[in-house]
Amino acid sequence: MHKVTTLNQFIIEKQGEYPGATGEFSSLLHHIGIAAKKVHREVNKAGLAEILGRVGVVNAQGEEQQKLDVFADHIFLDELRASGQCCGMATEENSGIIVFNEGWCRDGKYVICMDPLDGSSNIDVNVSVGTIFSIYKRISPMGHDLALDDFLQRGCDQIAAGYIVYGSSTMLVYSTGNGVNGFTLDTSIGEFCLSHPDIQMPDDGKLYSVNEGNYANFPTGVKQYIKYCQEIDPPTDRPYTTRYIGSLVADFHRNMLRGGLFLYPPTAAHPRGKLRLNYECNPIAFLAEQSGGAATDGAIDILSIKPQTIHERVPIYVGSRNMVAKLMEFLETEN
Ligand code: AHG
Ligand code: MN
Ligand code: MN
Repeated sequence: MHKVTTLNQFIIEKQGEYPGATGEFSSLLHHIGIAAKKVHREVNKAGLAEILGRVGVVNAQGEEQQKLDVFADHIFLDELRASGQCCGMATEENSGIIVFNEGWCRDGKYVICMDPLDGSSNIDVNVSVGTIFSIYKRISPMGHDLALDDFLQRGCDQIAAGYIVYGSSTMLVYSTGNGVNGFTLDTSIGEFCLSHPDIQMPDDGKLYSVNEGNYANFPTGVKQYIKYCQEIDPPTDRPYTTRYIGSLVADFHRNMLRGGLFLYPPTAAHPRGKLRLNYECNPIAFLAEQSGGAATDGAIDILSIKPQTIHERVPIYVGSRNMVAKLMEFLETEN
């Protein structure tokens, strides 16, 4: 029979490759896997909301049903607090940082930035959503209060990043800076199983992913690149194909496996771009680079930006390296 490697087995084997590893980081990943399964369970029930009780409606116990993004936020906060390895989190759902002050986690080595539920507008229509996470070592000394600066580290300082995509199947994809591996949830045994070892994003792609409804306000270089994608030139496989789900995780996941470019340029509504640097762009950029792709804000690599605030936004162009390079040619001639 085919040997199946579960996420936990994989974590243990990897830990064995680092002499001196204490298992703390492995434990953290293990807890992310548990939270992912809990959110998976809830996402899969979302279509039954009418039957089980609507969001915003008070249930039989007198409790209001939570929105799925708030639910996911609580699940991950509780699970990572319980891990004892994480001393604080910054998430999309909370304006400030959350410090874990309990005795068992106060001295955890790690801080996490997270988008607990990405693509939330897609929940009600049964389209893929995700969770995105970014892990850093705390920089403030142990025994001292956690500081905002612990969460404002450059993306290149991430020690791990990943996402869960709740799609036609649920997958957990992560990197610790040594390639990217993907695990698919086998619901019959309740385990994530290694299904996509050492993912390599193709250097070239034929997909481009952008909300073209915002076209009128895109920078000129982006407009020119989109026209380039649409030109008929069979030797270079153009025109390319547009694919846009509206869930960053799902759009990026497809493009990483197939080859493609995801664009979220500045728009009228979001002059600095819509997506958040710390818990959307940085982890996705880390995975892109780890799988052989690239990510830029149009001027510099996403991973080299120094964050100033937890929730800041940046334009992002991420995907197959040759597609990013081609886009940069247009942006550079324009500027
Ligand atoms: P979130 O649900 O966490 O707020 O994120 C939604 C994001 C991202 O997933 C997606 O790429 C983008 O918003 C889509 O934005 P548009 O609807 O403006 O295209
Ligand atoms: Mn999001
Ligand atoms: Mn979100």
